[in-house]
Amino acid sequence: GTSDHDFRYELLEESAQFLLDGTKHRPNIAIICGSGLGSLATELEERDEFPYETVPHFPVSTVTGHAGKMVLGLLSGIPVMCMQGRFHAYEGYPLWKVSMPVRVMKLMGIEQIIVTNAAGGLNEKYNVGDIMFIKDHINMQGFAGDSPLRGRNEERFGPRFLCMNNAYDKELRSLAREAAQQLGLMDIVKEGVYVMLGGPTYETVAELRLLSILGVDAVGMSTVPEVIVARHCGMKVFAFSLITNKCITDYETDLEPNHAEVIEAANARQKDLKELVKKIVSKMAAK
Ligand code: 6GU
Repeated sequence: GTSDHDFRYELLEESAQFLLDGTKHRPNIAIICGSGLGSLATELEERDEFPYETVPHFPVSTVTGHAGKMVLGLLSGIPVMCMQGRFHAYEGYPLWKVSMPVRVMKLMGIEQIIVTNAAGGLNEKYNVGDIMFIKDHINMQGFAGDSPLRGRNEERFGPRFLCMNNAYDKELRSLAREAAQQLGLMDIVKEGVYVMLGGPTYETVAELRLLSILGVDAVGMSTVPEVIVARHCGMKVFAFSLITNKCITDYETDLEPNHAEVIEAANARQKDLKELVKKIVSKMAAK
């Protein structure tokens, strides 16, 4: 073929049409639920759920167990679409596949997207449980020549050469700050730079020291491909990281990052994150 990816616009239209045919909801807002926000989808009213394996042309899950699903419903009366579980690069998906659901969302009418993740806090001022509003990212895979937009450009989605200034929408961020203020969460809200690495390994001390010099505040294994594809098709993006652990940047400690602490920190903040997203969605819908 002429490109790395084997998607076709027409196939994505089929995915979108399948979902639209299965629900009366017509949301303008989508939420990608990372670790810590998985239970948001279960709060939607008048819910319609679509396990990924039932949606035409969706990536086939490489992991056993919970593959995840698309959930449409009402959040405080506002129609939204939630991705409960995402596709990660470390599972073996190419970046275009990781982010392909975002294009399906676009074809369903989504114009604003909230992207969330769990991340390690590299900024020394960050604590476990903090919520970092992402103001910018460093696309490490991009440095290495990979991108979800690699290959033939689909002009019906967006331009060949995409501008990434204001990718993390200033207005949405300020609206989110307002929401956090009203919920009394400003003590734990930070704003910073996110970097995505491929994983699945956590970083070495030397790697974290490097990232720190580069101006990174939080380190994760997701989000960047979805945000690039969302910006490519003109969506407004708000994104945040839940800081689930502190990055270890010295050799003198026996501490090490582990998945259990990430899950534990995510669960502990679940209620706050849900309230925050609810309020942000209300404000986004009112604009
Ligand atoms: Cl320390 N690193 C990465 N890459 N992802 C994470 C993390 C750290 N903590 C949670 N997710």
